[in-house]
Amino acid sequence: MVEIPYPLTTERLVLRRFAAGDLDAYYAYQQLPATARYLLNEARSYTECMGRIAMYVDAPFEQEGHWASFAIERAGAPGLVGEIALKWSAGGTSGDGVSPERVGEIGWTLAPQAQGLGIATEAARSVLELAMDGFGFHRVEARLDARNSASAAICERLGMRREGVLRDNMYLKGEWTSEAIYAVVRKPPAAGGA
Ligand SMILES: CC(C)(COP(=O)(O)OP(=O)(O)OC[C@H]1O[C@@H](n2cnc3c(N)ncnc32)[C@H](O)[C@@H]1OP(=O)(O)O)[C@@H](O)C(=O)NCCC(=O)NCCS
Repeated sequence: MVEIPYPLTTERLVLRRFAAGDLDAYYAYQQLPATARYLLNEARSYTECMGRIAMYVDAPFEQEGHWASFAIERAGAPGLVGEIALKWSAGGTSGDGVSPERVGEIGWTLAPQAQGLGIATEAARSVLELAMDGFGFHRVEARLDARNSASAAICERLGMRREGVLRDNMYLKGEWTSEAIYAVVRKPPAAGGA
C-alpha cells in the first residue's frame, strides 16, 4: 500500500483527494468536446462522471495499473478547477526479476476558466516531485497527441525530455494521429559516489 500524502500544497494550489461534491464542477469541464479533443475518451456524460468520481474518492494505489488522482483547487478559493492523474504503470521488470523502482505516467486536465495561468504546470510539478522523490519512481512519462501543443508545453516547462513520436499510432475521433512521448528518468548515482 502506498499512502498518498493528500493534500499537496504549492504556492497557489491545493491538490487534494476527490470528493463526492466535486461532481458538478467535474462534469462542467469533462462534458466539453474541447476537453476531450486530444484524449482517448469522448466528452463524458453526467453518469460517466458520477462513476469516475466515485472511483477516484477512495481508489487504492497499491499496485501496477492503479491511478492516484489529485483534485486541483486554487488556495483560498474552494472548488475543483482540474485534475492531475498519476498512473503506476506496468514495467520495471527484467530478465533478472522486478526492479525495486516503479515507473509511471502522468496526465492533466483543467477547466477552461483555469487555463492560461500556469496552474497545470504548477500542479504537475508537485505530483512529479512526489512520484520521483516521495515514491521513488524511476521514470515518469507523459504520452500525448502530438498536436496537443498546450500539453507538450507543460512537459517542456517541467523539464521532461521529448523522447520521440510514434507516427500515426492512434486512430482518434475519426483520424489517424501521432503520439508524442515525454519522460523524466532518475539519474543513476555518480560512479564512485558514496
Ligand atoms: C493541457 C491543458 C491542461 C493545458 O492548460 P494550460 O492552461 O495551457 O497549462 P498551464 O496551466 O500550465 O498554463 C500555461 C499557460 O499559462 C501561462 N502562464 C501564466 N502564468 C504562468 C505561470 N506562473 N507559470 C507557467 N505558465 C504560466 C503560460 O504562458 C501558458 O500560456 P500560453 O499557452 O498562452 O503560453 C489544457 O489545455 C487542457 O486541460 N486540455 C484538455 C485536456 C488535455 O488535453 N489534457 C492533456 C492530455 S495529454
